[in-house]
Amino acid sequence: MTHFEPSSGQPLNRIDGPAKVTGQARYAAEYPSDGLLHGRVVCSVVPRGRIRYIDCAAALAVPGVMAVLHHANRPPMAGDDEAYEDADAADGQPFRPLFNDRVLYSGQPVALVVAQSLEAARHAEALVRIDIDPEPFETDLLAALDRAHPAPAELPKPRGDFQRAFDAAPFKVDVAYSTPSEYHNPMEPHASTVIYQPDGSLHVHDKTQGTQNSQDYLHKVFGLAKEQVRVCAAYVGGAFGSGLRPQYQLALATMAALKLQRSVRVALTRQQMFTFGYRPRTLQHLQLAADARGRLQAVRHQATAQTSRFEDFTEHVVEWSGMLYRCDNVAMDYRLVPLDVYTPLDMRAPGAALGLIGLECAMDELAEAVGLDPLALRQANFTDSNANEGKPYSSKALLDCYRQGAERFGWAAREVCPGSRREGHERVGWGMAGGVWEAMQMKASAKARLDADGHLWVSSATTDIGTGTYTVMTQIAADAARMAVGDVTFLLGDSSLPTAPLQGGSFTVSSVGSAVRQACEVLRGKLVEAAKTRFGELAGEPAERFMIAAGRLQVGDRHYELAELLQGMPGGVLEVQLDAEPGARRQGFSSATHSAVFVEVRVDEALGTVRVSRVVSAIAAGRVINPKTARSQILGGVVWGLSMALHEQAEVDHHLGRPMNHDLAAYHIPVNADIGDIEVLFVDEPDDIVNELGSKGVGEIGIIGVAAAVANAVYNATGKRLRDLPITVDKVLAG
Ligand code: MOS
Repeated sequence: MTHFEPSSGQPLNRIDGPAKVTGQARYAAEYPSDGLLHGRVVCSVVPRGRIRYIDCAAALAVPGVMAVLHHANRPPMAGDDEAYEDADAADGQPFRPLFNDRVLYSGQPVALVVAQSLEAARHAEALVRIDIDPEPFETDLLAALDRAHPAPAELPKPRGDFQRAFDAAPFKVDVAYSTPSEYHNPMEPHASTVIYQPDGSLHVHDKTQGTQNSQDYLHKVFGLAKEQVRVCAAYVGGAFGSGLRPQYQLALATMAALKLQRSVRVALTRQQMFTFGYRPRTLQHLQLAADARGRLQAVRHQATAQTSRFEDFTEHVVEWSGMLYRCDNVAMDYRLVPLDVYTPLDMRAPGAALGLIGLECAMDELAEAVGLDPLALRQANFTDSNANEGKPYSSKALLDCYRQGAERFGWAAREVCPGSRREGHERVGWGMAGGVWEAMQMKASAKARLDADGHLWVSSATTDIGTGTYTVMTQIAADAARMAVGDVTFLLGDSSLPTAPLQGGSFTVSSVGSAVRQACEVLRGKLVEAAKTRFGELAGEPAERFMIAAGRLQVGDRHYELAELLQGMPGGVLEVQLDAEPGARRQGFSSATHSAVFVEVRVDEALGTVRVSRVVSAIAAGRVINPKTARSQILGGVVWGLSMALHEQAEVDHHLGRPMNHDLAAYHIPVNADIGDIEVLFVDEPDDIVNELGSKGVGEIGIIGVAAAVANAVYNATGKRLRDLPITVDKVLAG
């Protein structure tokens, strides 16, 4: 090999693919251990009250049952709230599982049955008798709006004079939208296997997006030294935010392991996946005004969301309305209503997935009011700076998304008049929307180690929740070291590896990727230097001629044994570990990903069913490291956006205070038959400011704007503005 071919930009297959499809990849609930005990969680069916007693006698009489843990007999746990605060905690007092006799929401874990077999635990679980003194409760956002209080979130300051500009403008819309609570439900339910080591330390396999977050939580809650707790998550079967915070099965399994000094597994059932965080129900009020050419004169976005009684969950719902378009008169407001429910939780594109429903549906309504094509309205309001922050964007190829997406979709042929295109028994409609998500970077560390056999091992404690991190980090490492991807292994999902942030927010490539790249570049620099020192004839060779391949150092047609080079180094290997942080150049800029999504729907006139036959999603996310895994992220996001538009909602019975459709039979999500053609385009977006990779992340942008585009297409098909999501058959027929 004399010419180096970078792997970045190549659609490399998932490195973890073979292990996953052959069943060799182990998930948290699949680790075996001698004498492993099984826990089953007993949840409260009362939303609010006080536990009077828990009668465990019948459960304990079941052969194989080892213990029933509850607030009165659990091992010691920290008493203060701070111990329970994790890297993604909301403001307030975090929930403390099995802490005391208080019941704060329906579905709250109140006991754990531990048995030698899962079957015994399941049987005994039904025999635990719990008597709760119920108290009055409220779980309905609409019934408690008078309790709304300003969210403890720092919103951008209002700009200009919204009311004056709104009143003075010739064209305006004043509309409200509502969205339901939605639950994450990754294919892999939450689970923790806690392996109790002979020395009393714990080796935990946890379903988490942050191994070190889980480790830190156990350290603080149970007073265990960090060295006594190792948390691993080698594979994660989807998470979407549900694994950002340590979930209660982790605390429960650990409690049982400490109490019994045995290894314990607790896996939640699918129904229990509806007993913790979720995307909160919201009401949104949008007021937009424009001049005769469609230029925005005034924007106000107000959102009200539900939260729990114990934490104020906040996310960025309204901020996008102050940054996506140019407008001088902007006001934003965000309120929370505390209810007797669990705290909501980040869920794919938290905040933006909701806020862009309001903004982008309202933009569609404004386009009609002004008499402009919805795409032309957006083009007329393009801005290349973020007015919320008063900074220019490091890059913003949104106009290219509009143009290329529209062209691929054939948008120019759109019927302007709603309800005018009919094919057979269906009305056909087209809609579009834009999307935006922050391009963040967090501090992260990585380690690179070159062995004498020419293999490069690179590691960081980050996770791969299905996003492609194993693959993409391998590509980044290989390119920085100028090696073949086959000679590089990336290790992740282990709290003992170099510090990394949670995997979330679409910031893993920019954060961990920057650390990986730097570590491998430094390592390569050291190797070149060592080779030049050791072999005098290499002194004048330019660095780019040095390659590591086939287990040897190659410079032109000369070969050198690595073993010889690495001989003098500690352990006979070359190792580099470093931290990467956002660069100083970013300071003066705002960075975000953008999208334009175009949708075709077919609405059955008699049945009211809505089918999405075609989607084009055009994405500007900087440089794409792996077009295949990146496309998969966008595809998943688009499917979920269709789900938000047409299928998903927690059907809460407010007399009982919990979702009734708490399984995948009743909680509707799209199946393959619901999904038509989806095309993903990545537009060119060079950006040497955002980070050294020029990559902005693609985990969230795919879902954003999709639900709005569908709702807009339904309007174009039927002439009905349906502002209460999801758009189900009953609403289409009645609306
Ligand atoms: Mo994502 S909601 O940041 O896992």
